[in-house]
Amino acid sequence: MKLKALIFLIIIILISVNTSVYSQDKEVKLKDNEYNASESCAECHLDIYNKWKDSVHAMSVDDPIFYTSYIEAYTISSGQAKTLCLKCHAPTVLVTKDYELKNRLSREGVSCDFCHTLKGVKLNDRRDPFMRDISPVKRGPLDAVKVEGHKIEYSKLHLSSELCAACHEYVSDNGLSIMGTYSEWKASSYAAEGKQCQNCHMPRIEGEISKTSNQKRIINDHNLQGGHYIVQLKKTQLVKIKEIKRLKDGVSVSVSVENAGSGHMVPTGIPTRKLILNCEVRTVKNKVFNDKRVFEKIIAGKNGEEMVKDSEIMLGMGAAIAKDNRIGPKEVRVEEFIFGIPGNTDISVSAWVDYLYKPLLLHETEMKIEMNRDEKTVSR
Ligand code: HEC
Ligand code: HEC
Ligand code: HEC
Ligand code: HEC
Ligand code: HEC
Repeated sequence: MKLKALIFLIIIILISVNTSVYSQDKEVKLKDNEYNASESCAECHLDIYNKWKDSVHAMSVDDPIFYTSYIEAYTISSGQAKTLCLKCHAPTVLVTKDYELKNRLSREGVSCDFCHTLKGVKLNDRRDPFMRDISPVKRGPLDAVKVEGHKIEYSKLHLSSELCAACHEYVSDNGLSIMGTYSEWKASSYAAEGKQCQNCHMPRIEGEISKTSNQKRIINDHNLQGGHYIVQLKKTQLVKIKEIKRLKDGVSVSVSVENAGSGHMVPTGIPTRKLILNCEVRTVKNKVFNDKRVFEKIIAGKNGEEMVKDSEIMLGMGAAIAKDNRIGPKEVRVEEFIFGIPGNTDISVSAWVDYLYKPLLLHETEMKIEMNRDEKTVSR
């Protein structure tokens, strides 16, 4: 009898300790039928929150490059840019109607609750491609686990590129493909192999899925590294000096550049991004010869001129695609450079690629990253 009472007491103590720990974690009360601020997810999903917080998705409104160009677009279009740009950069406003971006939630850009309450996409609905279920059900890659905090549902959408396609593909009203990241991927061998955007952009890293499930497990990186990240860029474009030939009165250098690692064209995304292949030859007397090739998509305006402003391009003011020589997934491009250097000089040759993004804001800013380099010395 005594022993039974003791065990009973211990059980009571265990339960109460357990519940007191639990109630600490359960203090957050999620709202049922409206979007929650991402901070309320951080209570349990801290590791994921910390990755997302520094991502371009979390900054898709506050990023100064976007915001400045948005204000420009807003002015040019007498306010019409609101519905157009914010659909992708602050997608919760399609529901909250906070088109003036007054609430903090709107400025969270592509937020936790926005993505995890999506149940489908209608890619041909250009005004509003999102199918939502704003409820306590959070959808994602995990299968039937019982969860404290909210309900969950396994979602194939979250494991497929279609989730990303709703924003990473943009055709203007007059039919120009302004951003074609999704369709470039769709046409590649990666799509055929079933390798989705997530496989490259949300790799598995160590972390806790939730503080309350209390096990060290693996999370998907929510930082979504792209062109803004040097590591990601460096492993992608491989440059090789294939051949250096002496001509009668010059030197010919063949250089190859391979889009080895990205699942779409390089560059992809907004058209003002460029990839530049540089080739430089130095003689022993330190004379320098150089030349370059630019890989890019150029949108031309009504008079055939190259459009350079993101605001005008994204408003769909272009008339035609004037050039598109970007490098496809796994494609190798060979370029020949010819320099007028006498055949009997010792030379050293280098070749490298730079990734260039030069948004034309109020003043010109420039982002340039060296991606990959190859060097060779040739003596007579
Ligand atoms: C751009 C949409 C997007 C945003 C924004 C986003 N997620 Fe996710 N999340 C995903 C996708 C896609 C997966 C599944 C990735 C996979 O399995 O390949 C995922 C997976 C998860 C998982 C399951 C565990 C894991 O890591 O796979 C949790 C939990 C989660 N997200 C929580 C959050 C929280 C919390 C935030 C905000 C701090 C957030 N997500 C922001 C798209 C998003
Ligand atoms: C009280 C704690 C708590 C809060 C707050 C919380 N979650 Fe969760 N969530 C969990 C737990 C626990 C799991 C299951 C983790 C596991 O299986 O290891 C989970 C799982 C998930 C999953 C995976 C679903 C699936 O089927 O793949 C997503 C997505 C998710 N949460 C999103 C969110 C979002 C978005 C918020 C904020 C609006 C949020 N969570 C707030 C505890 C919480
Ligand atoms: C609701 C719209 C939306 C969805 C859904 C979305 N994105 Fe994005 N994404 C954006 C916007 C807007 C930006 C640009 C933010 C900025 O820089 O202003 C962006 C930026 C990015 C970047 C960074 C590009 C760079 O230059 O560094 C990557 C990578 C990316 N997204 C991948 C994904 C992947 C993978 C998915 C699907 C799992 C996804 N996105 C889903 C809107 C979205
Ligand atoms: C095989 C891996 C792989 C796949 C699949 C992949 N990407 Fe990428 N992505 C990369 C790499 C590597 C980079 C960085 C170099 C570059 O700009 O191509 C990148 C860059 C980007 C950028 C930044 C573009 C820029 O120039 O700043 C965006 C946005 C992006 N990817 C979105 C997507 C979306 C959306 C999908 C799916 C439709 C996808 N990616 C599929 C590897 C991949
Ligand atoms: C269909 C969805 C969509 C629409 C509509 C859209 N954007 Fe974007 N925007 C994106 C995505 C996705 C990226 C990231 C792609 C990349 O990295 O190249 C982006 C990137 C940008 C960037 C570059 C940000 C940076 O830091 O590199 C600017 C500037 C921009 N958008 C301005 C605008 C303006 C202005 C509008 C409205 C006139 C607009 N966008 C409409 C999806 C969209």
